[in-house]
Amino acid sequence: MSLSLITILLLLGTAQTQRTTPDFMMEYFQRQLQQLEGRLIKCEQDVQHFSQRMYEMSKEIHGQTSKSNVLKSEVKGHIDTLAMRLDRVERDVEYLQNKIPDTDQVDIEDSLLENQMKEAKLKKTSVIPKDKDCSSELVGIKSLKIVKKAGDANGSWMKDPTKGSAKIYFFSGTRNSTILAYTTLKSFTEANSTKKTEVIHLPFPWHGTGHIVYNGFVYYHNADTNNEILKVHLSNRTVTDRLLLPGAGRMPAYSLSPHTLLDLAVDEMGLWSIHADPDFGGNLVITKLDHSGLAVEHTWDTNCNSRDAEAAFIICGTLYVVYNSHYGGRSSIQCLFDIHDTIVAESIPALFFPKRYTSHSGLHFHPKDKQLYAWDDGYQTIYKLDIKKI
Ligand SMILES: *[C@@H]1O[C@H](CO)[C@@H](O)[C@H](O)[C@H]1NC(C)=O
Ligand SMILES: *[C@@H]1O[C@H](CO)[C@@H](O)[C@H](O)[C@H]1NC(C)=O
Ligand SMILES: *[C@@H]1O[C@H](CO)[C@@H](O)[C@H](O)[C@H]1NC(C)=O
Ligand SMILES: *[C@@H]1O[C@H](CO)[C@@H](O)[C@H](O)[C@H]1NC(C)=O
Repeated sequence: MSLSLITILLLLGTAQTQRTTPDFMMEYFQRQLQQLEGRLIKCEQDVQHFSQRMYEMSKEIHGQTSKSNVLKSEVKGHIDTLAMRLDRVERDVEYLQNKIPDTDQVDIEDSLLENQMKEAKLKKTSVIPKDKDCSSELVGIKSLKIVKKAGDANGSWMKDPTKGSAKIYFFSGTRNSTILAYTTLKSFTEANSTKKTEVIHLPFPWHGTGHIVYNGFVYYHNADTNNEILKVHLSNRTVTDRLLLPGAGRMPAYSLSPHTLLDLAVDEMGLWSIHADPDFGGNLVITKLDHSGLAVEHTWDTNCNSRDAEAAFIICGTLYVVYNSHYGGRSSIQCLFDIHDTIVAESIPALFFPKRYTSHSGLHFHPKDKQLYAWDDGYQTIYKLDIKKI
């Protein structure tokens, strides 16, 4: 239709410049206009037909949803998720558009460019060799068990991942110097558990919900600093190591858990830290740490954004990021980053957590149990994971 219009306009233009309009041309315009009008009428009919269908469909949907309240809230949940995903896609597009520089305006020092290319090459080639025992991917979240309701709305808890240990550590709130420890999960859940509680006072307060207990030490973000990780011996509470994590602590690791700037994690490969980088569009950066000397081994920039993220965890060198909405909906894993490049995001669909409205302020993976220890609005819960060898 637009093509014919252009033709007419062109012809009109020609006619006007010639200042004469022969009859045959008028006839031609008439015919074209009649055709156009015919098509317009057809178009209008189509639209009417379509809106009638839409009306019928919406009536049908309305009828279906009013059948039961449960169904309604489920549909709403799906719509919320869809809206959230659409929102994310839109933001991604916007982000990409902002990221693509106008080449005319880019004027980078040649040497700088060269250095950046060298760095990029380095990042690609120095991938940690793949551990034979550690090639698995998360395929689903099997079940949810609510263990206890204790402490603040935000916090974190975990089972000691050290071999042979069954100890439970409890960090209530987002800033404190105290940890509670329990000998077993059973003693943690018992109503009279306070009698068996070990109270541990640390030399410096912790911040956020990203703490880790590993091999007799507690690793945590020192609340009096932006980006210092402390390693403290649990038995005598002495600081054995400190690390200022480069570039970390300038924004929350996850926008829905703003109290956590530095998130620590343990997987089959060892100790990790996760933070978001404002210079990198708020994307997450993961760092493999040497837990014995508390040193940086390697850093990866991931494609996962901290926007609308609430938590993350690492399994076999793959970062899984959990997203939600501001008012707490169904959490789902919608982004992953594999340092080995074997698991690609496209190969797995978005993984949803079991049906329950949640907001996770802390998630800790236990490599032996293949379980997540989660803090959900003051409830301590455990998720069993479905992990497949690849
Ligand atoms: C610190 O933690 C302990 C034990 O969980 C708790 O009793 C205390 O109220 C907390 N202090 C603050 C300031 O949150
Ligand atoms: C705590 O409660 C459990 C059962 O709930 C009981 O078997 C145990 O003896 C109690 N322990 C103490 C120290 O009261
Ligand atoms: C703390 O305990 C560990 C392990 O028992 C020991 O190696 C370390 O020397 C102790 N530190 C101090 C200051 O006592
Ligand atoms: C817990 O965290 C949420 C999300 O960051 C925040 O809105 C809320 O105020 C926090 N609650 C407490 C008691 O700190």
